[in-house]
Amino acid sequence: MLLTECVAVVSGADNAKGIGFAIARAFVAHGARVGLIGLGQRELAGLSDSLVGPDRAEAAIGIEADVTDPPAVASAVDRVVARFGRLTTVVANAGIVEGTALADVTPSALARMVEVNLGGGLNLVQAALPHLGPGGSIVTIGSIAAQQGGGLRGGPHYAASKGAVVSLTRAMARELGPRGIRANTIHPGIVRTPMTEDASPELEARQARGVPLGRLGEPDDIAGAAVFFASGLSRYTTGTDLAVNGGLYIG
Ligand SMILES: NC(=O)c1ccc[n+]([C@@H]2O[C@H](COP(=O)([O-])OP(=O)(O)OC[C@H]3O[C@@H](n4cnc5c(N)ncnc54)[C@H](O)[C@@H]3O)[C@@H](O)[C@H]2O)c1
Repeated sequence: MLLTECVAVVSGADNAKGIGFAIARAFVAHGARVGLIGLGQRELAGLSDSLVGPDRAEAAIGIEADVTDPPAVASAVDRVVARFGRLTTVVANAGIVEGTALADVTPSALARMVEVNLGGGLNLVQAALPHLGPGGSIVTIGSIAAQQGGGLRGGPHYAASKGAVVSLTRAMARELGPRGIRANTIHPGIVRTPMTEDASPELEARQARGVPLGRLGEPDDIAGAAVFFASGLSRYTTGTDLAVNGGLYIG
């Protein structure tokens, strides 16, 4: 068990089939306590109840908060700290995608993309900062789209918002390193979640053939990388990004 000292908040953990919940589940399996943040109190309550720690103690709470609403995020973080006594780890996972062509990206679509994908993570980290200390870890979720300039689902504004996540994470690593707090980004490739579920079996098969490891990603594939970044195994790693894409993009 790698995370027995970890108390984490994970945003966008409100869907059983999403990456955020897979990360929360993996954290709990490694002994962590987790605050699930997302939209939809009923889903969050059910998901948090389904997580039981190895010691059978309460392992998770679900708190409804829109990551673009700083007071709501701050209050969610405070509730996690009140429940579990401290905060060590932030996973900024909540995100939206839109597959618009360059010429059709409107100012409001760009603003919304940045507000959620970049601003949501910043809000979460700012709310968490007063609680984080040496050994703290921030994990942000980028995308293969940031690396290769868009992709299957994501238009240019999605790619740019995820590129900005990388820059923001590096800035956090630089500023927070002296306080013993690390910050790193994970770039998922094509992962089978609600975000990608509209793909037909034929399309999925074609996509999988393009992946050197021969299959699309599963949320648990991303969770493994998040456990690494949250744990002491990565204690000397900060300001970096890790591609978890089966080799779909190597660069
Ligand atoms: N699935 C993929 O192939 C893939 C690839 C690259 C990157 N990603 C990234 O991984 C992350 C997780 O995506 P996923 O694939 O699990 O999709 P998903 O749609 O299941 O998860 C995103 C979650 O974020 C939540 N969310 C959205 N806006 C929010 C807001 N304003 N406040 C709070 N929560 C909000 C949603 O409710 C949802 O549960 C996203 O940042 C996404 O961009 C996914």
